[in-house]
Amino acid sequence: MSIISTDIQKAISLLENEKLVAIPTETVYGLAGNIFSEKAIKKIFSTKKRPFFNPLIVHIPSIDALENVVSYVPEKAKILASAFWPGSLTLVLKKKSSIPDLITAGKDTVAVRIPNHPLTLELLRRLPFPLAAPSANPFNNISPTKAFHVEQYFKNDIQLILDGGTCKNGIESTIIGFENEEPVVYRLGALSIENIEKVIGKVTIKNHKLQNPDAPGMLQKHYSPKTLLILTSDIKKEIKKFQGKKIGILSFTNSYKNDRIFHEIILSKYANLNEAATNLYTSLHELDTFQLDVIIAEKLPEMGLGISVNDRLQRATFQE
Ligand code: TXA
Ligand code: MG
Repeated sequence: MSIISTDIQKAISLLENEKLVAIPTETVYGLAGNIFSEKAIKKIFSTKKRPFFNPLIVHIPSIDALENVVSYVPEKAKILASAFWPGSLTLVLKKKSSIPDLITAGKDTVAVRIPNHPLTLELLRRLPFPLAAPSANPFNNISPTKAFHVEQYFKNDIQLILDGGTCKNGIESTIIGFENEEPVVYRLGALSIENIEKVIGKVTIKNHKLQNPDAPGMLQKHYSPKTLLILTSDIKKEIKKFQGKKIGILSFTNSYKNDRIFHEIILSKYANLNEAATNLYTSLHELDTFQLDVIIAEKLPEMGLGISVNDRLQRATFQE
């Protein structure tokens, strides 16, 4: 029997019994548990093989619920929350002492967001506690954008994946913290910097390439397919380098298809950067199924969500 279903009642009873449930959000699927259950939270870390220094995002149903989780909200955080919640924005704020250290990796701040997905919003409204939910993938793998991606990863570990269809935004939320009341972007994501700056003016970006002490989960290698991935602005040149190899192409908008290309995916036929972001992980999951020698991915224009997509692709190229 499939563990993929839309049975919210079953999700509620599993979560109330300290079990994990995979939930849909508009960014990626999350692996969710009760933030106050030590058993559930430890299970999240062990299922994902995630190190404990990497803190979790707390998901709440409404702005009113924020006061149960955080002790202070800077003025600009209030503006951002009312502009973008529910949505793909995570705010890192001073935590309430009731938030367990396991969630925050011992930090005095907690990451929190209201996801924009009807099924998960209903679930959160009906639960008496918030949900901690990292992306529902093993550490360092590609985040899931469809219920069956989660099933492939965790079918032996969890009992239920709430099916909310394909994730509309397709990459993780943008994470913003505050330093001296001023917003700092710790992770580029599904909400573009342009849209954020329209609401609160210029922001600082600390989306470090290497280890980031402010957002401890931001590692150089991340979001990776199993196949070798090359990121380039010149696809034709890279194709020549891999003559005789089984090549997959992830292009922005043009087709490079010829006899030597085994499989090609175009992220957005009409060069729409939002559509490209939505399709990114779904395409990487698909390309990863063909046992290719290499995936050659095209760099997107450095604007809008192109910046977030390039960041993910850059991390996916890293080889140990
Ligand atoms: O879109 C998303 O944000 C998805 C969906 C499921 O909501 N979740 C997600 O969670 O991407 P995860 O665990 O894959 O990434 C959470 C990241 C951590 O790696 C860390 O960088 C940052 O959030 N983070 C969490 N708590 C933090 C804190 N107190 N201070 C700074 N960064 C924090
Ligand atoms: Mg993740």
